[in-house]
Amino acid sequence: MIAPVVARTRAELAEALATTRKAGGRVALVPTMGALHEGHVALVREAGRLTGPDDAVVVSIFVNPMQFGPNEDLARYPRTFDADLEKCAAEGVDVVFAPSVDEVYPGGEPQVTVQPGPVAETLEGRSRPTHFRGVLTVVAKLFGLVRPDLAVFGQKDYQQLVLVRRMVEDLCMGVEVVGADTVREDSGLALSSRNRYLNDEQKHEALMLSEALRAAQGAASDGADHALAAARAVLRRTTLVDLDYLVLTSPDLGEPPASGQARMLVAARIGGTRLIDNTALHLGSGN
Ligand code: PAF
Repeated sequence: MIAPVVARTRAELAEALATTRKAGGRVALVPTMGALHEGHVALVREAGRLTGPDDAVVVSIFVNPMQFGPNEDLARYPRTFDADLEKCAAEGVDVVFAPSVDEVYPGGEPQVTVQPGPVAETLEGRSRPTHFRGVLTVVAKLFGLVRPDLAVFGQKDYQQLVLVRRMVEDLCMGVEVVGADTVREDSGLALSSRNRYLNDEQKHEALMLSEALRAAQGAASDGADHALAAARAVLRRTTLVDLDYLVLTSPDLGEPPASGQARMLVAARIGGTRLIDNTALHLGSGN
């Protein structure tokens, strides 16, 4: 097991990638905020699968203050750097880029930021109005710093994935954006850094989210209304799940099609913890 190079500054990052760039190798980036779990490991493996021996896999670990709202506890966000580094070493990551806030935001919050557009005002954006501006700004910065050929994001944060794709397309960034499948516990619960805040009872109730999505998948061939009704019926079985939204959309988060590929997204609060999940659906016409 070879330990990854840890780059803390822009200069160290450039040095760590110099050989790969000189040899014409490709750079794959997995952007994270640390507290790595099996879901992140799956993103790293996807990056490894898409690259070869002359390429480099970079994992960035940066808790981005700009994507936290005033009432969201940035200080409480888990920081587990040593364990993260071990996981990266076990996966053969070449470089871990772990800059300080000053390194990413010299001079404080930038004057020029990424305006994420209307998709950011829906779903997560309703309760977190500045979140995606912060996410896209830091992702644009990470793309500028790492200059990756491809970047891997989880489908678990589906709205984020859609917005990153849109930014790359609208701003001609020339990065291939890969969306990796959500990793789930055997129970169906989607892995998330926030699951650690759930007690046993809450964790059990949290299963209703993935169960609702599965029920919708099962009913999807009968059409959109049946899919939504099946998901709602599951969610009604619990009082501990405080539903924020359950929606059916097109794959790019627009209006759902009458039939064909669609996405169902759910968000709920369980105790003090907000959880999100989503799935692809193939809607039948219901005829
Ligand atoms: O998904 C995350 O962990 C973050 O939003 C990201 C993409 C690393 C940006 O800070």
